[in-house]
Amino acid sequence: MMRRGQERWMVRNVHVVAPNEVVHGGYVVIRDGTIEHVGTVPGRAEALLPSVDGQGCWLLPGFIDLHNDAIEKEIEPRPNAFIPVDIAFLSLEHRLVCHGVTSIYHSLSFASNEFGIRSLDRVEAIVRELQRLGPSGRIRHLIHGRYEITDESACGVLASLIDEGCIHLLSLMDHTPGQGQFRKLEDYVHFISATYQRDHEEIVAFVGEKQSIREAASLKYIDRLTRSAKTVGIPIASHDDDTARKVHVMHERGVTLSEFPVTMEAARAATACGMAVMMGAPNVVRGGSTSNHLKAADAILDGVAQILCSDYMPSSMLHAVFTLYLKQGMCLYEAVNLASLHPARALGLEAEVGSITPGKIADFSLVRLHQETPMVERAFVNGNQVFYAGDRVHSSVADSVRKGSVLM
Ligand SMILES: [Fe+2]
Repeated sequence: MMRRGQERWMVRNVHVVAPNEVVHGGYVVIRDGTIEHVGTVPGRAEALLPSVDGQGCWLLPGFIDLHNDAIEKEIEPRPNAFIPVDIAFLSLEHRLVCHGVTSIYHSLSFASNEFGIRSLDRVEAIVRELQRLGPSGRIRHLIHGRYEITDESACGVLASLIDEGCIHLLSLMDHTPGQGQFRKLEDYVHFISATYQRDHEEIVAFVGEKQSIREAASLKYIDRLTRSAKTVGIPIASHDDDTARKVHVMHERGVTLSEFPVTMEAARAATACGMAVMMGAPNVVRGGSTSNHLKAADAILDGVAQILCSDYMPSSMLHAVFTLYLKQGMCLYEAVNLASLHPARALGLEAEVGSITPGKIADFSLVRLHQETPMVERAFVNGNQVFYAGDRVHSSVADSVRKGSVLM
């Protein structure tokens, strides 16, 4: 991981979004890459510290994104058009850091006949390449292994990667039509053919195979992977939970996180049994789910979802947080906690990251609203500046546009 900053300095003139309050007109002192102090009026010695003028921005904790599958599309933007992983890595990292994400769990599907990158060998190679590139990154790079429970061939490969310590979060998915995300066969066929350009007959034949594996063997694969995950101590998530019964079955197997529950019943059941519930930030930004399932904002405002992730849209956590604050009347620090403190808690990282709290690692960003759209001006990881947008956003360019200059 990148080195910690080695000095004592501060960010002043900011509205600090702490876990239980917003400290208006505040400042934050950072020492050796760690948050040392949050306050409003610097003491005489603090006033002499080197400083960054936040110019009235919000200071937000770095976002922790537990499910982002954009790396698959960066690597394979069209079917069978592959881009080298190091180029995809840098391109996606830039999109993340300039939207406030400081820890990313790259979500890779082990579902070789339907989702994600179809060759198992290639997925394994991508995981290893991301492991190699991660330490040179500007943000924290981790891996979320997504297992489709009907994929026989992927189970052993993923289990080995877990055993080797290459996977940091495991999720169990079941996209067999008739339940979960695809309640109707037509919805599954439509999604796969539109996203992965497979023909109708091929998909229908594959569904038959999927159903028979699901009945005969999927529990065996689930048990194999959950055993590995528990041995190395990584959390396990369930995906697209649709009933309280399914939530309870998963909970009994050691699952502690429910991602994208498709009904309020499932979200309530998961919350009631102490699981964390995660919804997609694009669902908040768009005002609903692409499959007409549970609205993320409803679940959040109802208190049965506690985490946001960016899913397929790297900028969406930032926009969802401010949508909840500006349009849904949610308190800003509670909206921010959905993207920072709560995911840290779900992954057991709360003592180190996830909020602007003395003693935690200094991962944060400075955000300004433009009209009602939030933009990151600077981002810091380990107390080191890793992104600076320059003066473009509140400069004389904007003023001259307003005054009707040549730029109009
Ligand atoms: Fe799904």
